[in-house]
Amino acid sequence: MTAIPMLQLALDYISLPAALAMALRVADEVDVIEIGTPLCKAAGLDAIRAVREVCPDKLILADLKSPDVGGLEAKMAFDAGADMMTVIGGAALATVESALRVAQDMGKEMLMELTGVRDIVARAKEWRDIGVERMVYHRGWDEQAFDRQWAAEDLVVIRQLIDMGFKITVTGGITVDLLPFFKDLPVSIIIAGRAIHQAEDPAASARQFKNTIARLWGGAGGDLAASPSFADTAAKALRFGISEMGLWLTVDGRDCPGCDSSHRFCQATRTAIYCPPGVKAADVVQGIGRLFGQSNAFGTESAQVFFLDPALLSNPSASRVIDLLRATGNALQELGCSADLKAGIAAANQAFGNF
Ligand code: 5RP
Repeated sequence: MTAIPMLQLALDYISLPAALAMALRVADEVDVIEIGTPLCKAAGLDAIRAVREVCPDKLILADLKSPDVGGLEAKMAFDAGADMMTVIGGAALATVESALRVAQDMGKEMLMELTGVRDIVARAKEWRDIGVERMVYHRGWDEQAFDRQWAAEDLVVIRQLIDMGFKITVTGGITVDLLPFFKDLPVSIIIAGRAIHQAEDPAASARQFKNTIARLWGGAGGDLAASPSFADTAAKALRFGISEMGLWLTVDGRDCPGCDSSHRFCQATRTAIYCPPGVKAADVVQGIGRLFGQSNAFGTESAQVFFLDPALLSNPSASRVIDLLRATGNALQELGCSADLKAGIAAANQAFGNF
């Protein structure tokens, strides 16, 4: 099953207030928000903290392109609220390894940034040997200014990296029109910066990216509800999210054996969830309806059990599924239940992006 790539908005700003305003306008339409390198330099860790504050449920990447002191820079970024950070491909192996170890210890992600790296595959072998998993394949801004175009050779190298086991992010002047160029590659994340934040309507532009990505990678002519891979991934994302929130998935009273178990009982896209003690399913469902809007994608199974079924969403997308999860967590919290929303949303995002 090919996962649908996540969409990352790059905030390449030098003004933090302007970046925050854009984050707020577009956050609902994207999966990851990037503190762009210029913003990291202009506003430092405050930029990470501020974006984390206004977008508590989003994945955040700090594009530090760290050249040295990798471990410390990674720790600073993660402590400030980032989920991912980048190390520049030209950095010494010791820098890469230091940042990677911090990321692994803290349950975060370190990505190699390939801008300016000429011998990508040779370097990739070294990085793979120390445990690197992710890379950002980048047509840099300055290269674009010198008319470097995306070319067939890029696809060959990206394919080699994927075949070596890396999860690849692609970026560099990507527009909606360029997305078909990448469509045969199971890339993990697609970054768009100027094509979104310089658009007349940035949220609409981000939506167009999401819909086109879903159509190209989700198959079935863009009808996500009809795409078994999307519906299955979405159901898995919801189950991961619900479990991480601390709720109990159930069918006929059996404990969930886990999404990857051959004995899993959620064979369909519908997931049944026991309410915490003292809470009625009808009240949870009413809360979800108020927060999310009415939909066939959720309802009561019995007095104590409600269900979520992302295959029944109208206009399905990863963002809509996350919104449904968020509404579920918030509805439960309003009813006085503890639900770890942040952990739930992180787990669901992970399932979508193969994180
Ligand atoms: C520049 C970057 C940018 O964030 C990246 O290129 C995405 O921006 P755009 O889509 O505007 O090219 O890392 O070094």
